[in-house]
Amino acid sequence: MAIERVAVIGAGQMGGGIAQVAAQAGLSVVLADATPELAARGLSRIAAGLGKLVEKGKLPASGREAVLARIEAAPGLEACAGADLAIEAIVEKEDAKRELFQRLEPHLGPRAILASNTSSISITALAAATRRPDRFIGMHFMNPPPVMQLVEVIRGLQTSDETWAAVTTLAKRLGKVTVTSRDVPGFIVNRVLIPLINEACFALQEGLASAEDIDTAVKLGLNHPMGPLTLADFIGLDTCLYIAEVLHRELGEDKYRPAALLRQHVAAGWLGRKAGRGFYRYD
Ligand code: CAA
Ligand code: NAD
Repeated sequence: MAIERVAVIGAGQMGGGIAQVAAQAGLSVVLADATPELAARGLSRIAAGLGKLVEKGKLPASGREAVLARIEAAPGLEACAGADLAIEAIVEKEDAKRELFQRLEPHLGPRAILASNTSSISITALAAATRRPDRFIGMHFMNPPPVMQLVEVIRGLQTSDETWAAVTTLAKRLGKVTVTSRDVPGFIVNRVLIPLINEACFALQEGLASAEDIDTAVKLGLNHPMGPLTLADFIGLDTCLYIAEVLHRELGEDKYRPAALLRQHVAAGWLGRKAGRGFYRYD
């Protein structure tokens, strides 16, 4: 099944990046959020990001215009009609995602595929909120989507071979490398990453070292592009906490228990870079 029109729901850092990647690959994209204003704001952030690429000489101004011409900010979910694939990238909360899929599905044609960019939530459970569990799949982009090479493809219990093939082919067309994961909490990347980030939070909480020294140690000692606390701020501390909660609850082991310091930062609204403050300040 050829995918030419994509709907992305959730115009935050991931949804915006996914929309940009799809438009850069020549697909037509509709970008939706909880309100038309939020969708328009997401589109403005894409325009600004593409503008930086033009300034750096990596994209001609005409290329920016061509990409933007392929993305439409949606007034509402009804604008997703006609999409061959809808990718959900809203908040990492199972109830919110299930509710969104139930409202979205009636607007889509019967052949359309539904995908979630969830970091940790069961694809089988989300699929059960729809009438097409065979046409439901996990399509997990990494942050930032325009830069990161990987897409994890997650098969729910009922995902069909045809759906898996269509989404894997699309990811390759977007220039990505794919891996396929079974539907286990956190899949592959976050099963490994979130315990690392959580351990860095425990280390900070216990006064092992300053945030800067924890990050410098991991960055230079392990040759990671960012230290774990900087990366947590980059991902969003709310998202990190919600993923950690899924791992802890579903895998049932104390080693996945989210650090109190991580909970406190989220409770304080210090959600990381997107909020202007997390473990670090971004004024
Ligand atoms: N859109 C387009 N291009 C972007 C971009 C964006 N949003 N952000 C950065 N870039 C480009 C820059 O233009 C630059 O390109 P050139 O090298 O061609 O000049 C390149 O990426 C590097 O950017 P910068 O020089 O600005 O900064 P940097 O060298 O520090 O790289 C980074 C930034 C790519 C984010 C790098 O720090 C990095 O790889 N960090 C780790 C990211 C990571 O681990 N992501 C996965 C998180 S886990 C996840 O996503 C799963 C989950 O469910 C939580
Ligand atoms: P974000 O906070 O930047 O954006 C979320 C967007 O979803 C916001 O624009 C918000 O207004 C919108 N939204 C929330 N509830 C909605 C609803 N009911 N209907 C429509 N829109 C709604 O978050 P993000 O970092 O882009 O993460 C989005 C999803 O992608 C999450 O499931 C997250 O786990 C996953 N993810 C995040 C990362 C990361 O590094 N941040 C990486 C991979 C996957």
